[in-house]
Order: sequence, then structure tokens, then C-alpha cells
Amino acid sequence: MAGSSFGTIFKITTWGESHGAGIGVIVDGCPAGISLCEQDIQIYLNRRKPGQSRFATPRKEEDCVEILSGVFEGKTTGTPISMLVKNQTQRSKDYSEIASYYRPGHADYTYDQKYGFRDYRGGGRSSGRETIGRVAAGAVAAKVLETYGITVTAYTKSIGTVSIDPSHLDFDEMWNNALYMPDAAASKAAAALLEEKMKETDSVGGVIECIARGVPAGVGEPVFEKLDANLAKAVMSIGAVKGFEIGDGFAAAQSFGSFNNDGFRSENGEVRKTSNHAGGILGGISDGSDIILRAAVKPTPSIFKPQETVNQDGENITVQIKGRHDPIIVPRAVVVVEAMTAVTILDMLLIAGSFKHSGTEAPCTE
Ligand SMILES: Cc1cc2nc3c(=O)[nH]c(=O)nc-3n(C[C@H](O)[C@H](O)[C@H](O)COP(=O)(O)O)c2cc1C
Repeated sequence: MAGSSFGTIFKITTWGESHGAGIGVIVDGCPAGISLCEQDIQIYLNRRKPGQSRFATPRKEEDCVEILSGVFEGKTTGTPISMLVKNQTQRSKDYSEIASYYRPGHADYTYDQKYGFRDYRGGGRSSGRETIGRVAAGAVAAKVLETYGITVTAYTKSIGTVSIDPSHLDFDEMWNNALYMPDAAASKAAAALLEEKMKETDSVGGVIECIARGVPAGVGEPVFEKLDANLAKAVMSIGAVKGFEIGDGFAAAQSFGSFNNDGFRSENGEVRKTSNHAGGILGGISDGSDIILRAAVKPTPSIFKPQETVNQDGENITVQIKGRHDPIIVPRAVVVVEAMTAVTILDMLLIAGSFKHSGTEAPCTE
């Protein structure tokens, strides 16, 4: 199966299945001389690790990363960085039943139609566990972006109908609640909604917002390699993501030119924008302001309610899914959106110009 690689210069290839021996990624094209150790990666992986709250799958996995290549004496060598996370608590018997039918909202039917055969254990390659490789690669990209003074931060904007209040944003708060919402009141209301839906054996979706700060103007290539086009591909390739926006996004369709246009001003010889409805990208090229994107995430497809489906013999059946599942995917996908944004921006920065190591990334944290 082709399609497991992303990027041009900073190129990542993820591999592995949910219930196979392990999951990982190969990062090729990382500049040499960047301080990097396993702890730098582990901090990111811990943010998507399962079993950390009652709103995440109870599957217990330590998700400990091993760097197998591309790092010597705490620094990247410029050669492929291979990273491995071993699967530890596969319980494939939970999934033996789904070998014969198609779970609604999952990739079972389409994989079967395409290949005539599938690794049905936990969704195999279409599992949320595939995102481990993306997050590990994103941690490396974030380390390199630090040397440019670029930061990428994602958080939960909404869960179901509960949205953060932009006038109450508190980014320290996002580390205090299991939902990664930077608004204490909204996270409490969202938790109550989740409790209610979990009692009904149902699931909930939401929106993740991501901000990249410090990206200089000029990143992105006309016309098929636009920065926003590549960000859309990166984010839409994450399982369960059903919508993507830059800046005002879909709301711009109901706006007016007089409001939606970001004016320009000259301040001390520098060109500044008076607003940022465009979300930091014009004509596919970064304009120097914050890049703001959003991902709409669907409700977890595996729910414990009886559902209608079809088995491989074409018979109509009713199924009740077993196994361990996230009642909401959003909080665990926050770091995945952040990682894919970092990977894309770094790749396009490297395409836009040559990399000069400034030595300003944080030293190895081990
Ligand atoms: C971090 C993450 C965790 C996920 N966890 C689950 C889960 O526990 N149960 C489930 O049914 N789907 C889960 N998914 C979603 C499925 O992988 C996805 O919906 C499915 O493969 C179908 O793909 P599509 O939604 O992109 O069409 C998760 C996705 C991500 C990104």
C-alpha cells in the first residue's frame, strides 16, 4: 500500500498496526546537529497516550519510544531517524468478531473492497494508534522549528455544542484538564456533556484549533504546493478529521469583503496587518502573522449501542461493538494536529530556503 509517506524534504513515513508488534516512523531529511533525545519525543507521546482519563480508551499502553537511528551523542546526524513504540496490551480477541462484519463509521468496508483482505484487529492500519508515528515526527519537527523561533500550539476549541469563550482563554488551564481546553468553565461543561453521552453509550465530536507563531512571511509555493493546501492535506489525513479551516474558514463565506479583508499598515518600516481573518496565509504563502487552523473531528465511531450493518456474506445484521474505545477522540488528537502542523511548516520552510542551524533549540532534556 502506497500512501504512508508525507513531505518533500522533511519526509515522514509511518508504519505499524494497532495490534501488531509495534508502531513507528522514519523521519528522513532532518537537519543535522539538532539536540534530540528520547525524552523530547516522549513528552509529546504522553499527551496522546491512552488510559489517562475517563474520557479516553482504557487500553493501557506506556507508549515508550526508542530512537533506533539518526542520533549520535545527543544530536541528529542528518540521516534517517527511525523511532519505535512497541505495542504491549493487544487484546485481539475483542476484535475477532469484527473479522466477519463491517463496523459503521470505520474503514472495515472500504479496506475490504480495496484489498479483499484486512487486518481487522483494532482497525489495523486505520487505527488511531497510527498517529503515534506522526506525533513522534512532530516532536522532532517542533525541536527544529524552535531554532527558527517558531512555536506550534493546539488545543480543544469545542466539544459537541460546548465551546471555549475567547474572552476567557487561559493557556495554563489547558494542562490542568483532561480535555485540553484553555477555559476552565468550558471544560467543566464539556465534561458534564461527555458524562451524559457516555451513560447513553454514545460518543461526541469537536473542534481542535492550532496556532503557529513566528512563521516568517514567504513560506509556501505557488500553486499546487500552497502552505494552506499542504496543511489541509496533513490535517485531513488524520483519522476521524472531517473538516478543515484556515483563519475565518467557513465563516468567511457569510462575511463581507469590507470586514474579511485584512488591512495593511506600515509600522517602523515593517508591514503589519490590522486583523487576521486570513489566518496568516495569502495566496498559499505565509504573511508573517499567526497561522490559525481548525480541524473538525467526528464522534468516535465505535459506540456500544446496537447498530445496523452487513456481514461479509451480505446479510443484514445488528451488532454491538466490544473492545476499548475513546468516548471522544478530540483530546487525544490535539497533539496529532499540532504534530502534523509542525511537520508541514518545517517541510515548507526547508523547501522555501536553506536551513541554517542557529543552535537555539532547547538542549537535550535527558
Ligand atoms: C487519536 C485517535 C484515536 C482514535 N480512537 C478511536 C477509538 O478509540 N475508537 C474508534 O472507533 N475510533 C477511533 N479513532 C478514529 C478511527 O481511527 C477512524 O474514525 C476510522 O479509522 C475511520 O476513518 P475516518 O473517520 O477518517 O473515515 C481514533 C482516531 C484518532 C486520530
